[in-house]
Amino acid sequence: MLGALKNVSERNVYDEIEEELYEMIVGRIREGDPVLDVGCGECHLANLLAKRRGCRVTGVDTSDSGFAKGMAEAEAWGTSDLVECLKVDARSLNSTIDKMFKVAVSVYALHEYEEALQVLKEVRKVLKPRGKILLVDFLKGSTAESLWSERYYTPTEIKSMMRKAGFGGIELEFPWDRELVFATASDRSH
Ligand SMILES: C[S@@+](CC[C@H](N)C(=O)[O-])C[C@H]1O[C@@H](n2cnc3c(N)ncnc32)[C@H](O)[C@@H]1O
Repeated sequence: MLGALKNVSERNVYDEIEEELYEMIVGRIREGDPVLDVGCGECHLANLLAKRRGCRVTGVDTSDSGFAKGMAEAEAWGTSDLVECLKVDARSLNSTIDKMFKVAVSVYALHEYEEALQVLKEVRKVLKPRGKILLVDFLKGSTAESLWSERYYTPTEIKSMMRKAGFGGIELEFPWDRELVFATASDRSH
């Protein structure tokens, strides 16, 4: 059962739910090795997945500014052998990464991609047959809009992009009173 929020007005609810959110994501990625984390930032999720699931994780991000922190965490957690962080633009994943993944995850990054559809198409290309994708992002109309004045996608837009990118079995959930969207799907091209 997902936690309900009491007063979401101007609080940064995302800080409050961060730990529970990561736990939920780890719970969703029970099987699947290797894992791709698109827009990995400081590689925290990559380290957590490696630590908890023992899986190999490749994190990619256009910015490597968070990698040093991620590598320090990997060192502290003993996950260095399982986690790699690469400075890669996900718009050209397929031509830059010589690897296929069972699962791709992307947290709080979809809305930041300059060409989100292109990124999703590239992610699908590096997924193994019946590989799965899990997208987590802020939702249009969520508290994130008043906190950061960014533009977020509607459920319809997300579903449509995923379909256009070649994913099937698309399912959307809206945990924490629609503060977030969890979008899952699988590659339907194989
Ligand atoms: C809000 S941060 C989220 C970071 C991390 N996933 C987290 O949950 O803390 C979004 C990340 O997406 C990355 N990003 C944006 N466009 C990208 C692209 N085309 N390819 C790879 N990463 C991208 C940004 O550099 C940034 O690190």
